[in-house]
Amino acid sequence: ADIPVITIDGPTASGKGTLADEVGKALGFGVLDSGALYRVTGLAARRAGLDLDDGAAVAAIVPSLRLRFSEGHVFLGTEDVSARLRAEATGLLASQVAVHPQVRAALHQLQLDFRRLPGLVADGRDMGTALFPAAPLKVFLTASAATRAERRYKQLISKGISANIESLREDLEARDERDKNRSASPLEPAQDALLLDNSALGIEESVTQVLGWWQRRR
Ligand code: C5P
Repeated sequence: ADIPVITIDGPTASGKGTLADEVGKALGFGVLDSGALYRVTGLAARRAGLDLDDGAAVAAIVPSLRLRFSEGHVFLGTEDVSARLRAEATGLLASQVAVHPQVRAALHQLQLDFRRLPGLVADGRDMGTALFPAAPLKVFLTASAATRAERRYKQLISKGISANIESLREDLEARDERDKNRSASPLEPAQDALLLDNSALGIEESVTQVLGWWQRRR
C-alpha cells in the first residue's frame, strides 16, 4: 500500500490536533486523531465500572465499542460523545488505559484502517514510532509547558468552561510524565522525525513549515 502518511506526534496540548486538521485540509488527506480512540476507551471503561489498571479487562471491551466518526464528531452507539472526550478528566482516563500493551494492541488495526487514499495525517504519541514507522514525513511537535497550559486555558475559557492555569499545567505535566515513562510505545520522537517547536509560532506558520517539508520530501 503506497498511501502516503504524515505523522504528527508530541506531548499534550502541543497543538497536534489543529496542525493535523489544517495539514489534512490543505492536502485533501484524511485525519486520524488517535487520542480520541484512547479517550473513548477510557470513557467506556470507566462507565462499565472496570478497574482501569486491569489491561486485559479494558482491552476486552474495545471490539464491542460501537464507534463512528462523522464530520469531526465521535459517536459511541447513538450518543455524540465529542464534548465529553475533550474534557481534561477524559484525557486522564485515556492516559491511564494507554499504558497497557493489551489496550494498545486492541486499538492497533482500528488506527491502520484510517489509512486510505489519497493520504492520511495521523496525530498522537506513537504514530511515527509504532503505527506508521515507514511514513515519509514524521513531525515531532513540542511547545513549552507554560505555552501549552496557556493555550489549553484559553480554549477552555472560550468554551465557557472555568479553568485554573496552574492546575492545568500540573495535569499536562503529569500526563506527559506517564506517557514518556510507560514501557509500551512511550512518547518519544522517531529517529527520523523532524522537530518543530511551535512555542513562538502561530498555526499558519506551523502549517507552512510542515507543508514545506512535505513538498521537499516527495
Ligand atoms: O492526544 P490526546 O490528548 O487526545 O491523548 C490522550 C491520551 O491518550 C494521551 O495522554 C496518551 O496517554 C494517550 N495516547 C496514546 N497514544 C496515542 C494517542 C494518545 O497513548 N497515539
